[in-house]
Amino acid sequence: MSSKRFLTGITTSGTPHLGNYVGSIRPSVRASLRPDVESFYFLADYHALIKIDEPDRIQRSTLEIAASWLAAGLDPARVVFYRQSDVPEIPELTWFLTCVTGKGILNRAHAYKAAVDKNTSTGEDPDSDVSAGLFMYPVLMGADILMFNAHKVPVGRDQIQHIEMAHDMAHSFNYRYGEHFVPPEAEIEESVATLPGLDGRKMSKSYDNTIPLFATRAELKKLINSIVTDSRAPGEAKSTEGSALFQIFQAFASAEETAALSQAYQDGIAWGDAKQVVFERIDREIAPMRDAYLALMADPAKIEAILLAGAIKARQIATPFMSRLRHAVGLRDLRAQAQTQKVKAAKVAKPAFKQYREKDGKFYFKLVDAEGKLLLQSLAFDSPKEAGQTIGLLQTQGAAALPALANQLVTVSALEADTISAALTLMAEPD
Ligand code: TRP
Repeated sequence: MSSKRFLTGITTSGTPHLGNYVGSIRPSVRASLRPDVESFYFLADYHALIKIDEPDRIQRSTLEIAASWLAAGLDPARVVFYRQSDVPEIPELTWFLTCVTGKGILNRAHAYKAAVDKNTSTGEDPDSDVSAGLFMYPVLMGADILMFNAHKVPVGRDQIQHIEMAHDMAHSFNYRYGEHFVPPEAEIEESVATLPGLDGRKMSKSYDNTIPLFATRAELKKLINSIVTDSRAPGEAKSTEGSALFQIFQAFASAEETAALSQAYQDGIAWGDAKQVVFERIDREIAPMRDAYLALMADPAKIEAILLAGAIKARQIATPFMSRLRHAVGLRDLRAQAQTQKVKAAKVAKPAFKQYREKDGKFYFKLVDAEGKLLLQSLAFDSPKEAGQTIGLLQTQGAAALPALANQLVTVSALEADTISAALTLMAEPD
């Protein structure tokens, strides 16, 4: 099939806010309307367990996010719309990916690193209050994506690293067990990098600075009035740069509307008036969905039925795929004894560096894969020590060392860089 698969999830840890709408709900609904796109959208309730230990809140949030997506125009007949925890193949795949993911990679995940840095700065044990769930977050997310072989994952900028990790997991698994996974790419809506919240920082539940997507008209007005501004008086020219109010407006407005507000800023519009303009513009987009949302919220049985039907569709893909993957890794019916010898041979062999001297008296190395295929070729070194140092860099830094070593290596294409990266990762792991 030539169509692209889009997939995205929202963690069911709170009430959806304008940031979720602009960054995830709205772009995913738009993508789902494209004829060439097959989409998978889900409620990431396993992810919610990492942060939330209030069962009622998780249930409530699942209902609210599902209702928001539907109210925003998601058509469950056109897409696969499901709840993560209704697809038990996902946690099973998580384990498979756990076993091909370097612990060192997870150490570098932003959310985990931020928790460790915070602990270190306050003199706590580095892993204090860090659950293994938080550490494993990227692997569960990798399983979400790879389960359906999504090509594109529309996410906010803060999630790019997770998609890169899923990409690496796909390569690592494929490298060992054959081509099963499509390495995914992040799809960022450039215009809405991240939406600022009431205090100007990224709009996020964790900062308590959000505007609920389906606040009533009166609440919406009140919240927009509380967005931080500077103290410039009416008549004084205002700067659009760094203005949270302006950025929020921009996420809803057309280019002409944005230009008009920018002009008004220059002309010294009073903050109160600017807020009124922003409020009316946002409400114009949200109001029609608000009624649909309230109706859905009043009918949880309908949403439950939609999600269960979605899970059946999702599992029509996940169940047979998972059984292929189980077979690929060796979790097999014992009566079928095929290929055992061949698989064994492939398992012991690993990629390797080979150092050698040429007739020109210079020293070289190459990196070959398990089957002896050339992955990387060095240029000449004057001494074996220099060649060894370069190998050392590749062993410790992996593919990250490649750009800096460009003048010592025969150029590699981007595609080879992926293969090399997977080979270096594999070599770094214990047998
Ligand atoms: N981590 C995402 C967030 O907090 C939610 C999520 C979970 C997700 N699994 C995903 C997003 C898979 C995209 C694809 O926003």
